Amino acid sequence: DRDLDETARAILRANDRGGYTIPTGGLYPFQWNWDSAFAAWGFSTFDPGRGWDELDTLFAAQWVTGMVPHIIFHKEDAGYFPGADVWATGATPPSSGISQPPVAAILARRMHEATGDTERLRALYPKLLAWHRWWRDWRCPNGVACVTHPWESGRDNCPDWDLGMARVDTSDVGEYTRRDTGHVDASMRPGKEDYDRYIAIVQFGRACGWDQETILRDGPFLMGDPAITFILIRANRDLAAIARVLGEDDSSPLRWADDLEAALPWLWSDALQAYVARDVATGSFASAISSGAALGLLAGVENAAMEARLARIWDSVRYGIPSNDPAADSFDPRRYWRGPTWPVVNALIAIGLQSAGRVEEERRLRRETAELIRQGGFFEYFDPLDGTACGGDNFTWTAAIWLAWAN
Ligand code: DGY
Repeated sequence: DRDLDETARAILRANDRGGYTIPTGGLYPFQWNWDSAFAAWGFSTFDPGRGWDELDTLFAAQWVTGMVPHIIFHKEDAGYFPGADVWATGATPPSSGISQPPVAAILARRMHEATGDTERLRALYPKLLAWHRWWRDWRCPNGVACVTHPWESGRDNCPDWDLGMARVDTSDVGEYTRRDTGHVDASMRPGKEDYDRYIAIVQFGRACGWDQETILRDGPFLMGDPAITFILIRANRDLAAIARVLGEDDSSPLRWADDLEAALPWLWSDALQAYVARDVATGSFASAISSGAALGLLAGVENAAMEARLARIWDSVRYGIPSNDPAADSFDPRRYWRGPTWPVVNALIAIGLQSAGRVEEERRLRRETAELIRQGGFFEYFDPLDGTACGGDNFTWTAAIWLAWAN
């Protein structure tokens, strides 16, 4: 595995654009929020200073509201759509107008435990706190974490969003040219109807000047997200632990975590016996169990009925936790978030398994994830049935979790 360690470090170095890391050349030519947090974690295994720099660059793009954008367009690149001109947020540096899963506190805590860089952590702390407060103020209208765009969930075309997406009107979208399908196989990417809706939601945000009150009240899409709810529960508890290390008051993040946990019943589907995505406007539940439910393990949320379901899902594939239930009609083993297994999600679930002392399951998840990478390389995601490598190659976050966890 020493060769793979070398390759993984080389991928991080090659995707480094000077203080920030792109997810992969071509397909994703800017800084992405949660990709960067994983990059930081990966860098911290061999160049801790560069790891902290990555988080500093990310948080340098934080809005005054506390929001940390999902894309930061440091340099123009005609190979991506929708670029800064389409988002038109007016932010400096130019950025998108939505956020992405708040994994930074979870990984910063682990980086600090490994490197002991308390001063770098201290500099970051108020920014993490402001971001988590933004989630509480602007993305928890009924207690759980909601997303205003599937891209905000980071799990773009996951079946979780099908119901909410079906209600998005695309009649005024107009003409545009996708760039993603020029970089990777179209059958591994979201479909055309999905893309029209993604763009329609962006156009709504732009038209209201990214006014969050308007977006929450009148926006075309708002769904409760089990994955971000679980990530935020864990991230708030990790932020509280960070506060204690720094001698700061830990009560706000602890309260935010407890409030999220108390609101969880709203996401409980009796039909599926799991926490699943739910449309805020209609109250309808998504129709399949996704990796969103599996992230309950990251939050330490224990539920015997759901665990039985998740165990069956895991046993029904060969590699890792799939992003969608293979028994669901919507399952598609190579189409992005509609079935493939994602090394980064496996790494997050493993953090939860480690915390719970579930050694055997953690080991199995690590072994299956490592096998995918050994056989297929550092790809974006993988077919969970036969291990086929999918999406972008030389992918930053896959290299990062190899170094920080899977190797
Ligand atoms: C894309 O362009 O596919 C990204 O996932 C959006 O964040």
